[in-house]
Order: sequence, then structure tokens, then C-alpha cells
Amino acid sequence: MAIILGIESSCDDTSAAIIKDGILLSNIIANQSVHEFYGGVIPELASRAHQQNIIPVVSVAIKTAKIEKNEISAIAFTRGPGLMGSLLVGVSFAKGFAKALDVPMIEVNHLQGHILAHFLDEKDKKNPHPEFPFLCLLVSGGHTQLVVVKDFLTFEIIGKTVDDAAGEAFDKCAKVMGLPYPGGPVIDKLAKDGNPNAFAFAHPVVGGLDYSFSGLKTSFLYFLRDRITENPDFIEENTADLCASLQNDIIHVLLKNLMKASEQTKIKEIAISGGVSANSALRNAIAAEGKHRGWNVYLPQLKFTTDNAAMIAITGYFKYLNGQTCGYDVTPTTRM
Ligand code: KG4
Ligand code: ZN
Repeated sequence: MAIILGIESSCDDTSAAIIKDGILLSNIIANQSVHEFYGGVIPELASRAHQQNIIPVVSVAIKTAKIEKNEISAIAFTRGPGLMGSLLVGVSFAKGFAKALDVPMIEVNHLQGHILAHFLDEKDKKNPHPEFPFLCLLVSGGHTQLVVVKDFLTFEIIGKTVDDAAGEAFDKCAKVMGLPYPGGPVIDKLAKDGNPNAFAFAHPVVGGLDYSFSGLKTSFLYFLRDRITENPDFIEENTADLCASLQNDIIHVLLKNLMKASEQTKIKEIAISGGVSANSALRNAIAAEGKHRGWNVYLPQLKFTTDNAAMIAITGYFKYLNGQTCGYDVTPTTRM
């Protein structure tokens, strides 16, 4: 029997989860509303909030799972990438707790966690698991990557953003329109009433399977600046169309390379992961394209798209089965 406690604290969500023999028993997430006022994550405030949240969140995860802490076999934690101050809280807590329980620690790459979220199963819900090798479009606030997943622990990045991540493009453009943070889910909602073809913004040109979103963001910014000069109410009068058009452009860019990658690798097992994979239009677009191309498409449950410790615990579980533990001298790292 293996019981893994997973801990996630890479950005602005404090989360703890318990997995027993591959089955998720609890997944507790404390969001940090303190950042909304600033329109983005303030690292110093994030680490302070993690510090306050970590003990209650772990405690509730253990209680909800109906286990005793001395039944825990190992503690998996996000080692990076992420904000240093945020990671430090999770890593330090994991060290102290692992030492107290005298159990091994397992370091987890946050991005691998997002991908392996596809293998999370709950007592009453088995999720469809992609077959290896599969192609994963990993789209979050900090990363945009195309990854070939060869087995639970072997990954090859075949494309990545050269500047902003897709989630960053959503969030920054939302901020320009005066929408609250995080902008991605807000744009998703407002776009439902808009025309995706109302406006068009500059599409980036980068080689191979790489992505770029900073040009699109700048094009959006300049477009708004010019229109506001003519009509100061332009944003208010066109919010839905702006959201739908921007979202449409981001999805178009994401899908173009995903299709190219599938053709190049001949892989038709297609998954998406990360916060932006919660986007309803992206999910619909990939499902439709998949039907057309004969892909098996895997869309994660919404609760496993944005940051959570369940994905860290399941990755830790696979590493535990493979004997991949680490020493108590492990340190967090902002890039991995
Ligand atoms: O994976 P995640 O929780 O954190 C990182 O590892 O970065 O992703 C957060 C990102 C944010 O940029 C947020 O705006 C975006 O995911 N996001 C969405 C949606 N839900 C979250 N973007 C578009 N549509 C959504 N529904
Ligand atoms: Zn993430």
C-alpha cells in the first residue's frame, strides 16, 4: 500500500492532496484573493499567504482523506518551476513534515504534474487515460509547450513559447481591457456573447513548433489604443467581441502547431493540460479538430486544469513506485 501526500505551492494556490494506491482521496486548494486588487500575483504576498495556509490545508487534506498522518508513505512536493518565495514554503514544510514522520520526499516538476493529471482517478470516477506515446499541449499562466509523453516519467519538449505563455496573453490583454485578474476565465465567459471574427490581431511567425504570444498582445494593445482615440467607450461597447476575437486568435495559434506536431510525430493521442485547458472554446476547438483528424482527445476535468496538489501527488505516486525519492537537502528551483 502506498499513501502519498502531495503539496503544491508554486504560484498563488496553496494545495495539498492525498492519493492512496493511485486513487485520489482528497484535494484541498486555498486560493489567494489578495492578488486580485493588484491585477497580478505579488510574489511577496503569495509567500506570506502560503505560510498562513499550508498547515490548515494539509491538515484538512489528511482529515478529508480519512487517513492518519502516520500512514503516509512519502511526501511529494513541487520543486519548481515557480516563484522562489512560494516554492520555499511548500518545500520547507514538506521537509519538516517528512523528517517528523520519517518518510522519504519526492520532488515533482510542476509541469509534469499538469500533464500527469490525466492519470488521476477518484473512487467513483475513473478518468480516461491517454495511451503512450501521447502528445500534450501544456498551456498555463507560465508555460506553453508541446510535449511528447513517452511514459509516466519520460517527456520530450518539441515546441515551446519563445516569449509569453498563452495564459499570460489572456491575463495581460484582460488587464488592458480593465477586466479582473486572472483574465483567462473572465475572457472565456464574456467571449460566449461575442463574435470571434469581429476583429483580427497580428499572428506571430516563429519557426518549427515554437510559439510566440508577445506580438499578439502588442497588436491587441495598439489596436485598442487607436480605437479609443476615436471612441473613448470602444472597450465598453465591444467587450464581448474583443474577448471572443482575442480568444479565437490565441486558440488558432495554439491549434496550428498542435496539428503540425501531430502530423510530424504521427501521434493521434492528444491531450491538453494546464490552466488554459479550462478554456471552453479551446476544448471545443480541439474536440472538433480531433473528430475531423481521427484523434483520441483527452480533456482534463476542470478541477484538474488549474494548479492543484492532486497532480503533484499522482506524479509523486509514479515516482515512488519507481523508487525515485530525494534527500532532505533538496532545494526549490525557479526553473527546471
Ligand atoms: O496552470 P495554472 O493554474 O497556473 C500556472 O501554472 O501558470 O494556470 C493559470 C492560467 C492563468 O493565466 C489563467 O488566466 C488561465 O490559466 N486560465 C484560463 C482559464 N482558466 C484559467 N485561460 C483561459 N480560459 C479559462 N477558462
Ligand atoms: Zn500550473
